[in-house]
Amino acid sequence: MEAIANGLILLMLSIGHAELWIMVINRTHALPIHDAWLKRLRHILELAIVLFPIVLFLSVGLYAPGVLVGGTWSQLSFWWKPVLLLCTLGFLGLMYSAFRHLFYKPPRQQTETQSELIQMRERLNQDLIGEGPYHYLAGLPLNQVFSVEFTRKTFQIPRLPANWEGLTILHVSDLHFSGTLKREYFVELCRIAQESKPDLIIFAGDLLDEMKCLDWLDDTLGPMQAPLGRFFILGNHDWHQESLQIRETLSGMGWIDLSATSFCLQHAGHTLQLAGTEVPWMGTHPESRRSASEENSESEFDFLLLVSHTPDNFHWAVREGYDLVLSGHTHGGQVRLPLIGPVFAPSLHGTRYASGTFARGSTMLHVSRGVSGIHPLRWFCRPEISLLTLRTTDDAAR
Ligand SMILES: [Fe+2]
Repeated sequence: MEAIANGLILLMLSIGHAELWIMVINRTHALPIHDAWLKRLRHILELAIVLFPIVLFLSVGLYAPGVLVGGTWSQLSFWWKPVLLLCTLGFLGLMYSAFRHLFYKPPRQQTETQSELIQMRERLNQDLIGEGPYHYLAGLPLNQVFSVEFTRKTFQIPRLPANWEGLTILHVSDLHFSGTLKREYFVELCRIAQESKPDLIIFAGDLLDEMKCLDWLDDTLGPMQAPLGRFFILGNHDWHQESLQIRETLSGMGWIDLSATSFCLQHAGHTLQLAGTEVPWMGTHPESRRSASEENSESEFDFLLLVSHTPDNFHWAVREGYDLVLSGHTHGGQVRLPLIGPVFAPSLHGTRYASGTFARGSTMLHVSRGVSGIHPLRWFCRPEISLLTLRTTDDAAR
């Protein structure tokens, strides 16, 4: 019986050890480090994650002190103690993330949520797996990569001008064109998104992983239209490609580039300031809203919207007084373990902002799970496109 309990403790320590390195992987993938280096680091850490439990079970479990064969923890050698303490902290960190995931509730400002499942394979009645990188993952059992969730969320934003009641924003992120999922998949998805007739369209970065797919824009994002305009920023995967060419192509199609800049939009007698940031991969943050107001007393905005590829800029946006931040990048974790939730998320905050809606002060953040990824694998984490409706009052109270 004692041996079983000790075996479980060793298993818990192994999981805690894996979590420590996953924390390092998540944070390093949030930094502007080139892919080749990230891949090397990931492979080394993955090897450590696999080897550690073997060493732990053989050494502590069977040899010295041999807790699986009659030894006691008090006989543990001095140098194992700090290592196992760290592993325990790693395990507690994972439990904390799991509780946060299990008890996640959108903030009260999100007054309504609806979702519609779009089964792309059935809809198009064809195989949608192409020949791109990691295409073998797309056919794995339970993979939800072709089961897209079209979410419709209503946000109550008191600062919203009354004339803008019901303003709709289509939030699309992380298309990751690579050839792994066929072009038809994205064409149909953009067509469905367009049918929702949004007032404004935002693309939040990570357009492609293969430059040969650039012409896919012709029948995906290219033809989309919205009365107040279409705006984009790029993401870290675009940074690894010919980002200038991507920008020029999208801009040539009438999309407005928000990278490191802001754009004032007049609508129904009020001003909407749209700004974008691709920090930390490209450019700088847009000019501080406060300094713009100081320089020009007329620079008063009724509503401030920031598009940031990574949710890591949320805290900066809160300090700057933005009303709404739209992000992607973390893909919801892509793989969510039952009860535990997402484990991998390339963010300085780990899985905290993997997806969903968050509020801090008067700033709201919406993180889309995105449409795709370089790895076409989604377990318990469907691709997502979102239509956000802004209201000044609570729907339920009206
Ligand atoms: Fe992405």
